[in-house]
Parts: sequence; structure tokens; C-alpha cells
Amino acid sequence: MSQTDEEKLAEFEARIARGEKIEPGDWMPDEYRRQLIRMISQHAHSEVVGMLPEGAWITRAPNLRRKMVLLAKVQDEAGHGQYLYHAAETLGATREQMLADLLSGKAKYSSVFNYPTLTWADNAAIGLLVDGAAIKNQTMLAHCSYGPYSRAMVRICIEEGFHKKQGLEMIIRYAQGTPVQREMMQDAINRWWWPSVKMIGPHDSDSPNTPVLKRWGVKTKTNDEVRQEFINEMAPILLELGYTLPDPGLHQDENGDWRHGPIDWDEFWQVVRGNGPCNKERLAARQKAHEDGLWVREAVAAYAEKRQSVMAEG
Ligand code: 3HC
Repeated sequence: MSQTDEEKLAEFEARIARGEKIEPGDWMPDEYRRQLIRMISQHAHSEVVGMLPEGAWITRAPNLRRKMVLLAKVQDEAGHGQYLYHAAETLGATREQMLADLLSGKAKYSSVFNYPTLTWADNAAIGLLVDGAAIKNQTMLAHCSYGPYSRAMVRICIEEGFHKKQGLEMIIRYAQGTPVQREMMQDAINRWWWPSVKMIGPHDSDSPNTPVLKRWGVKTKTNDEVRQEFINEMAPILLELGYTLPDPGLHQDENGDWRHGPIDWDEFWQVVRGNGPCNKERLAARQKAHEDGLWVREAVAAYAEKRQSVMAEG
């Protein structure tokens, strides 16, 4: 006798409660599938758009070693995007539709990539702060109930660890460097601190997706919990190096947690709605890259068609 939807949902939730992974062929609520396609495709878009701010500095790295490290990092981000687009495809999303949604401006990607990288030190700030915030979030997602996403996160977090370390190495180096280097680094921290704090998502009170994502084990922590972990890790590192943080309200409470001051969420939502400093530039760059790649897609399609006709002729 076939199960009712209520029985299927009860079994699905019992599996999640037991810590089982949901795999592509398993029964899942439509909302679970929709939420995962939403999150994973936006995550993939973020990785691909996230290549642009740092990519602008590959040709202007201060020395060969920095160039090689930055090249490796940007290349990693491209790979992360591919893993994640593929993870979304296991849920029935198509690459074509996901890319069309990004290129039309319909799909979201992380707010943090809509800011300019004005000096070389921005790459250090991105490495420690942006990738540091991403690792907090992605370490959580590595425990996600959806198998392909959690497994992609395990691989991605290992590579993000290198991204964060190379950022920290530069931040330490410039803290001990010339006054010009210290000033350049402080300026970058001033500009990247708040975008990194906000990229983790709105306050839990303004996070409509979190309840269902927590219920079904996609998120194991809320946005504010991940944000607190991030600030608790980063504030002492930067303050101990002699840098300041652009948050006059930042203080340590009686439990040792670093409490942030008021967050300008109006600015955040402006960026999410496409009105940030670099939104138009980032989208134009992705649209141009897609147009420039048309000949490659056509060549691959022609080869596949030719190969199929040769195979058919036997
Ligand atoms: N930028 C853009 N949109 C954001 C956002 C951000 N930083 N934070 C939240 N939003 C959007 C959400 O997408 C949602 O809109 P939608 O329903 O239309 O999709 C709305 O704001 C409400 O936010 P919620 O908190 O309800 O949304 P979520 O529960 O999905 O939480 C999230 C937001 C924590 C970003 C979650 O989506 C998530 O964990 N996503 C996967 C990780 C990810 O995308 N990280 C992006 C950075 S990747 C990166 O940094 C690469 C690294 O290599 C540097």
C-alpha cells in the first residue's frame, strides 16, 4: 500500500533526526528540494562571481610568490563553483537555467563580492575575513542533511583553509611592515570588516528561510550563531596585531564573546537588491565571459553531435 505524504514526511524527518544523509534519489519534500536548489545555486554563483574582485589583482601581484598563491586561490573558487552547480543539478536544476538566472540578474549571489578591491591589501582582507566568514558558514554546511552538498563542503572547506591562511600571512606581514603597508592593510580592514560580518546573512529575526532549514538539518546553526563565531575568532586576531576595527560598539561581554555594534542592514539590502558599488560591473563581467565562451560551447556541442553520428553509423 503506498504511503501518504504525511507518512513520507514523518519518515523523512525521522531519517534526518537519526543523522542520515538524504541522497538525490530519496523522497524529499518539494520545499526541501526548492530550498536546496536556492541555496546551492546561489552559493555556486557566489564562488564564480567571487573570482572577480581578487582576479583583478593577479596581473598586479607584488611578486611571483603572491601571484602564484592568488592564481591558485582564484582557480580554487572556479572549482568550488563547478562542484556546487553539479550538486544543484543532482536536485533537478539545470546548469543552463542557473546560469540564465545569474546572467539576467534574477539570481542572488553573496553581497560581499559587490565591493571594489582598491589596493593589494584587499586580497589579504578578503583571504582572512571573507574566506574566514565563508569557512564558518561552510563548516556548518558540511554537516548538512543533503549528502551531495555536505560532501562538497568537506572538500571546499579544506581549500578555504589555505585561502584564509594566505590572507592571515599577509595581514601579519603588513602589521610588521612599513608604515605605508600597515596603513594600506588598516584601510582594507576598514572596508572589508562590515561586508564580511553581513555576508553571513541577516539577523535571525529577519531570516525567513532559517526555521525550515534548521528543521530539516540543512543549517545546523543560525546566521547570528555563525556570525558570533566569526567575530569571536577575528576580533582578537586583528586587535592583537595592532589593527583597529571599524565598529565603535565592539566590546567583549562577561562571557568573553565579542559583541558587535549596530549593523547597517539598509546598506546590506541595497547591495542585495543590486545597488552596491560593483553589482553592475560584476554582472557585466559574467555576461561578457559567457558571451566570449559561446564559441567553446558551440565547438563542444558540434563535437558531441559528430561523435554521436559516427557512433550511430557504427
Ligand atoms: N548576500 C546576498 N543575499 C543574501 C545574503 C548575502 N550575504 N544573506 C542572505 N541573503 C538573502 C537570502 O538568499 C534570502 O533571499 P532568498 O530567499 O530570495 O534566497 C534572504 O536574503 C533572507 O536571508 P535568509 O537568512 O532567510 O537566507 P538563508 O537562510 O538562505 O541564509 C545564507 C543566508 C547564510 C547565505 C545561506 O543562504 C547559506 O548558507 N548559503 C550557502 C553559503 C553561501 O552561499 N555562501 C556565500 C559565500 S560563498 C564564498 O564566500 C566563497 C568563498 O570562496 C569566498
